[in-house]
Amino acid sequence: MYSFTDLQAIVEKSLVQLQLPSEPQNLYDPISYTISLGGKRIRPVLCLMSANLFSDIVDKAVKPALALEIFHNFTLIHDDIMDKAEVRRGKPTVYRKWNTNVAILSGDAACILAYKYLVQTNAAILPEVLKVFTTTALEVCDGQQLDMEFEHLPFVTEEDYLRMIELKTSVLLAGAAKIGALIGGASMVDADRIYNFGRYLGLAFQLQDDLLDTYGDPKVFGKAIGGDILANKKTFLMINALKLAGKESLAKLHLMMKAADVLPEVKIAQVKQVFDEVGVRTIAEDKIAHYYGLALAELGKVTVREERKSVLLHFAEKLMGRNR
Ligand code: IPE
Ligand code: IPE
Ligand code: MG
Ligand code: MG
Ligand code: MG
Repeated sequence: MYSFTDLQAIVEKSLVQLQLPSEPQNLYDPISYTISLGGKRIRPVLCLMSANLFSDIVDKAVKPALALEIFHNFTLIHDDIMDKAEVRRGKPTVYRKWNTNVAILSGDAACILAYKYLVQTNAAILPEVLKVFTTTALEVCDGQQLDMEFEHLPFVTEEDYLRMIELKTSVLLAGAAKIGALIGGASMVDADRIYNFGRYLGLAFQLQDDLLDTYGDPKVFGKAIGGDILANKKTFLMINALKLAGKESLAKLHLMMKAADVLPEVKIAQVKQVFDEVGVRTIAEDKIAHYYGLALAELGKVTVREERKSVLLHFAEKLMGRNR
């Protein structure tokens, strides 16, 4: 079986060999730029690990794995416009380095490029893989739309928040895992267990992302700290703060979300103070542990020999302790 590092190396090598067209430069350079800045590559590696869970050969999963990473990069290019994010993977975002129009079109091209690699999947399994991928891709758009709409709501329930992150983030991890499993020859029942493993892991992953957006180390996170607070995102931290804050702190949160003339660093500090006061960090950590547990339980149900699961188990464990 392949280790996580082996599979990551396969992904990196294949990404380098992509050979995107060189022209028009302003269409393809932003895609190469984003991909070349690295990232954790969790979706393609998850796809390959899931294939490897059921099959000793992973070659057939490499092209779809690349499709997943390219699609993810498309979502990031557009997400940074929507979130007004200036930094990604430690470097200027595409719409800041070029401009918004370039980011829109190169993002679109990346999305289409993802399909170019996806359809290189073995013909026998392609219809099923396309179904999973397309459903997932649309769900990501659904989630992104909800995420943006929530910025303008004074309050969002935890249930609505969880559904939103399931769509914008976790289904892509789930879909990546399921596509890998299907290519590896898993039964539909096992492929669905692997899907749920990815889905729960994805929920924990986005909760961790919310946490790092406020409490992460700016030197390693690769994104600007406090971006979610500035955009009035209804993150897990914010909805719990809104739920638990006393009268004065609640008024402060509402004021900060409305005030147009407050300095960014002041807004971040004020909101963070309320987060600390009500202890949202611990609540988020407990929730992350909860979904991590559910993910492991799903993996436990998969009908392969236990020792084959160690790579995925190790991956899940590492992902929970991530700092970027
Ligand atoms: C960022 O995803 C978007 C989220 C769903 C939080 P990653 O944290 O996987 O980003 P990279 O690919 O490693 O940069
Ligand atoms: C990620 O949400 C969702 C997608 C990119 C589809 P975020 O907006 O939290 O991701 P980051 O924090 O910018 O990476
Ligand atoms: Mg976003
Ligand atoms: Mg964002
Ligand atoms: Mg985020």
